Amino acid sequence: MSSSAGGLVVFLLSVQVIQSQDGWGVTYRQTEVCAVKGSEVEINCNYTYPPGIRYNDIKERFWFTKEKDGEPVDLKTDSEYSGRVEFECSKTSCYLKITNVRESDSAEYKLTFRTNKPSEKYTGSPGVTLSVTDPGLQVQVNRSNSTWLELTCHSSCDLSHHPGYNWYKNEEIIQNVSSLLVSSGSTDRYSCGLRGSSGHRSPAVYGPRSPSVSVSPSAEMMEGGSVNLTCSADANPAANYTWYKEHEDSPRASGQMFTITDFRAEHSGNYSCEAQNEMGRSTSTLHLITSPGGDTTTMIINITRWTLVVVMLILLLVFCLWMRKKKAVSSTTEPHEPREAVEMDLHPEYEDLSAQREDPEEQEDQV
Ligand SMILES: *[C@@H]1O[C@H](CO)[C@@H](O)[C@H](O)[C@H]1NC(C)=O
Ligand SMILES: *[C@@H]1O[C@H](CO)[C@@H](O)[C@H](O)[C@H]1NC(C)=O
Ligand SMILES: *[C@@H]1O[C@H](CO)[C@@H](O)[C@H](O)[C@H]1NC(C)=O
Ligand SMILES: *[C@@H]1O[C@H](CO)[C@@H](O)[C@H](O)[C@H]1NC(C)=O
Ligand SMILES: *[C@@H]1O[C@H](CO)[C@@H](O)[C@H](O)[C@H]1NC(C)=O
Ligand SMILES: *[C@@H]1O[C@H](CO)[C@@H](O)[C@H](O)[C@H]1NC(C)=O
Ligand SMILES: *[C@@H]1O[C@H](CO)[C@@H](O)[C@H](O)[C@H]1NC(C)=O
Repeated sequence: MSSSAGGLVVFLLSVQVIQSQDGWGVTYRQTEVCAVKGSEVEINCNYTYPPGIRYNDIKERFWFTKEKDGEPVDLKTDSEYSGRVEFECSKTSCYLKITNVRESDSAEYKLTFRTNKPSEKYTGSPGVTLSVTDPGLQVQVNRSNSTWLELTCHSSCDLSHHPGYNWYKNEEIIQNVSSLLVSSGSTDRYSCGLRGSSGHRSPAVYGPRSPSVSVSPSAEMMEGGSVNLTCSADANPAANYTWYKEHEDSPRASGQMFTITDFRAEHSGNYSCEAQNEMGRSTSTLHLITSPGGDTTTMIINITRWTLVVVMLILLLVFCLWMRKKKAVSSTTEPHEPREAVEMDLHPEYEDLSAQREDPEEQEDQV
C-alpha cells in the first residue's frame, strides 16, 4: 500500500517535470508576498501550456490554498473568502486579488489549470506564500538639493505588489505616490500609509521645533563657576545639536549639553543652540551674564559674617566662665548674696530659677 503510494508520488513528480518540459508552467511574479491586515493584495503569474492545446481547451483555471480529497478547492467556493477574491486570466497570465486581507489568509497560493482530459492539468508549485503582518512603515528622507527633500516610504515587508501609498501632510492625504518631494525647512509633519488600509501609518517626520534651552545652575554666573547649557527640541528623526556664541562662525560645541567650566567675564554673552535633522533646523538663544557680585566679594562677606559670629560666641563663653568662677568664689565667702549673681548672669541657669521665683520683681528689673 505504502509502496504503491510512494510510486504514485514519484510518478506524479515525473509527470510534472515531463509536462513542464512539454510546455506546462507557471511563473509567479514573486514567491513571497507580505501584506497588511485590511489591505488588498494582488498576486500575478504567467502560465504556459503545450502548443498542442488551444486556449479554449482550458476549461478550469483557478487559485487555491486547500485541497479536498486530493483535489484543489477553488478559492471562490471557499466561504472564508466570499466577496473578497477576484481573479482573471488572459491567454498567458493570471492575477489574484484578495481584498481586506485577514491574518487567516496567510497561506501558500497556487494556480491550477486543466483541460477536459484528466491527464492534461497543471499546478504551479511551489506557489506564492502570503504573510499578513504589520508593515512597519518608515519614512526615509533624502536631500535632493538645497531646497528639496525626497521622502520615501519604506516597509519591513516587501510591498511591491501593493497598490500604493498615501502621503499625509499633517493629517491630510495629499498624494498617493511612492516618494514625495517637499521643500526643506518646512514645519509640517509628513507620514505615509498604505492605500486602502488607513490603520497603518508610519511615524511622522518633521523638522525640529524651536528648541528649549535650560541653564544649570543659573544664567547669572560667578567667575570661576561652571555651567551646563542643555538644549532639547522635538524632532523626528531625532535632532543633533550645535552650540554657537554670537558673532562667531565656528561652533563652540556639539551635543545636547554644553558645559563651560571656569567661567570668566569674556564667557558672558548670547549663546545659541541649533537643532538640526534631515528635515530642517531651528535655533534658540540664551543670554549668559557674569554675576555683578562676583565670586570673591561674596566669599569675603561670608567669611567676615561667620568670623564675627564665632568671635562673639567665644567672647560670650569666656564671659560665662568668668562669671561662674566669680559666683563660685563669692558663694564661698558670702553665702547670702545670690541675687547679685542672678542680676549679673545673662543666661540664668537652672540653679538660678529658685532665686527668680523668690523674687519676681527682681526678674523684671533684669528685663
Ligand atoms: C509575464 O510575461 C510578460 C511578457 O513576457 C512579462 O512582461 C511579465 O513580466 C511576465 N509576468 C510574470 C509575472 O512573470
Ligand atoms: C536615499 O539615501 C540612501 C542612503 O543615503 C540610499 O540608500 C537610498 O537609495 C536613497 N533613496 C532614494 C530614494 O534616493
Ligand atoms: C532640486 O530638485 C528638484 C527635484 O529633484 C528639482 O525639481 C529642482 O529643479 C531642483 N532645484 C535646483 C535648484 O536644483
Ligand atoms: C491615487 O491614484 C489613483 C491612480 O493610481 C488615482 O485614480 C487617484 O485619484 C489617486 N488619489 C489621490 C488622492 O491622489
Ligand atoms: C553638568 O552636568 C554634568 C553631567 O550631567 C554634571 O556632572 C555636573 O554636575 C553638571 N554641572 C552643573 C554645574 O550643573
Ligand atoms: C544678546 O541678545 C539680546 C537680544 O536678544 C541683545 O539685546 C543683547 O545686546 C545681546 N547681548 C550681547 C552681549 O550682545
Ligand atoms: C546633524 O544632522 C545633519 C542632518 O542630518 C547633518 O547634515 C549634520 O552634519 C549633523 N551635524 C552634526 C554635528 O552631527
